[in-house]
Amino acid sequence: MNPHEKIYRELKEAGHGGWGGKKHQERLDSLDRNLNRLLDYLQITSGKVLEMGSGAGDVSIWFNKRGYQVTGVEISETAVAWSREKTDGSVDFICSSVTEEDLLMNQTFDLIVDGNCLHCLFDEDRHKFYSNVKRLLKADGYFYISSAIANNEGETAVIGPLDRCFVTEDHLKKELSSHSLICIKSWLNVHEKYSHFYGVFKHKA
Ligand SMILES: C[S@@+](CC[C@H](N)C(=O)[O-])C[C@H]1O[C@@H](n2cnc3c(N)ncnc32)[C@H](O)[C@@H]1O
Repeated sequence: MNPHEKIYRELKEAGHGGWGGKKHQERLDSLDRNLNRLLDYLQITSGKVLEMGSGAGDVSIWFNKRGYQVTGVEISETAVAWSREKTDGSVDFICSSVTEEDLLMNQTFDLIVDGNCLHCLFDEDRHKFYSNVKRLLKADGYFYISSAIANNEGETAVIGPLDRCFVTEDHLKKELSSHSLICIKSWLNVHEKYSHFYGVFKHKA
């Protein structure tokens, strides 16, 4: 069983609200702060939003409540069912991997949001993810990353029960730049063991 699927089954069974379990509300507060910061910067008030790794739906629902047309892609079927339960069908939640080559074929989006999914991906999967982002992003669209990062090259840390891909901010920006995804704005939440990177990127064709 996919490790995320196992976690979502346990979270739901225990009566939690979504990813983060006991810290779910703390997560929602942090999402709210950072997504408001994103929209204050972008100054967009409508359009199509895609969340990569939509989990139990909280980020996608946040955008939907503000009038955006939202699609969420998530690998755990329990999480997808859970996110559908939280809405009235106005968000399109799809069970698939963000690395699928034919993901959402022929669709494009004004804003693609990494729902803390990129730090779950390793090696070739990260490049498949970036290729999908480029294919699915409108020419004038924005890509937003929310990702745990290492404070120094080679450092690792443990967050929760799953392995995370820890790279530094510099490494991450270079990796994206090699896919012509250029950082136009970023901010950090610095922690002792690892930090959290938030960044807005544009695709320069
Ligand atoms: C840290 S959780 C965050 C969930 C949600 N975006 C949120 O902020 O509440 C990362 C999510 O990415 C999903 N994920 C990991 N690998 C994936 C993949 N290859 N395709 C789609 N979703 C994936 C996990 O199942 C998990 O729901």
